[in-house]
Amino acid sequence: MREAIFRTRITDLLGIRHPILCGGMGPRVSDARYVAAVVNAGGMGFIVAAGHESTDAFADELRLCRELTGGKPFGVNLYVSRRPGSVEALQAIIPLLADHGVSCVETAGANPAELIPPLREAGIRIIHKAPGVRYALTAQRMGVDAVIVVGYECGGHPGTKLVGTMVQAAHAPQVIDIPVVVAGGVGTGRQLAAALAMGADAVLMGTRMLVSEELWIHPDHKARLAAADGTESIIIKTLLRDHHRVLDNPGARAVLALEAQGVTEYEAYRNLISGVHTHAGYRSGDIGKGAYDWGQSAIFAGETKPVAAIFDELLDDAVAAMDRMQGVRL
Ligand SMILES: Cc1cc2nc3c(=O)[nH]c(=O)nc-3n(C[C@H](O)[C@H](O)[C@H](O)COP(=O)(O)O)c2cc1C
Repeated sequence: MREAIFRTRITDLLGIRHPILCGGMGPRVSDARYVAAVVNAGGMGFIVAAGHESTDAFADELRLCRELTGGKPFGVNLYVSRRPGSVEALQAIIPLLADHGVSCVETAGANPAELIPPLREAGIRIIHKAPGVRYALTAQRMGVDAVIVVGYECGGHPGTKLVGTMVQAAHAPQVIDIPVVVAGGVGTGRQLAAALAMGADAVLMGTRMLVSEELWIHPDHKARLAAADGTESIIIKTLLRDHHRVLDNPGARAVLALEAQGVTEYEAYRNLISGVHTHAGYRSGDIGKGAYDWGQSAIFAGETKPVAAIFDELLDDAVAAMDRMQGVRL
């Protein structure tokens, strides 16, 4: 593992070497092997709790991750949906997380308030991912340990206000007291250096990491990312107030067509955005059906490499950016 270059409140809080987090990716994309590679490279990764065939299958992933990381801290993503029963289902798995040595969670989606007391009791750190400073402030008031503020450019859910990462990265550390992680469009070390310079404590990435060698998704998907110019994503489900940045493919176009007709019943969309199609597409490389989270940072993806090599590249680039700053300072 590359030696530490930075020490921030996030590296201290999570017990990690580099201020680099890799966000949870579903359905079952960020699995134990990928998360372990992130952790072993000195960052923090999150296995997505949702979407496993059974609780036992999820427990197997946790066990494998613990084994592959040799007891280093690793995380789980808890996505709180607005569906009835979502919070209760997540509450029910907290003992399982504790039993398997999960050290922190990345909460996302709807309000995580009811998860905070049981997570605290289990000794698990809570980092809430919010698509905007105002929601991050609410999470701070609720008592989370840190926040991830994710901007418009991100793969996945940018929220409904669509403020860019550059604005939020400058604003969030000014008004938030707990550690701040910047996300959305991040894929280079110069962005890491800039985020730290703006007062943040770490960055979090999703899309850029999809080309990681340790990630199981089909090589054709990785090749598409390597060829990306950053313009191939679109935001769907705005009519449902569930904005979602995904790869522009026939499935996403079909969603936009329904939105153009003013269809607001979720059922009409279910088959188009089903995680089943998406998971199958990641396996086969055939991405016609399904909704593939894909951010503008695809432009930084490049060739397939081990996570540790990606981190090396990032850290070298961050150091070069800091040297450049020295060079322009009078
Ligand atoms: C393929 C993929 C799947 C994702 N799935 C989830 C998820 O299940 N839950 C979640 O909270 N965030 C999910 N995200 C969002 C990431 O955790 C992260 O917030 C986002 O990718 C950051 O923006 P970036 O893609 O520009 O780096 C996903 C992102 C990608 C690229």
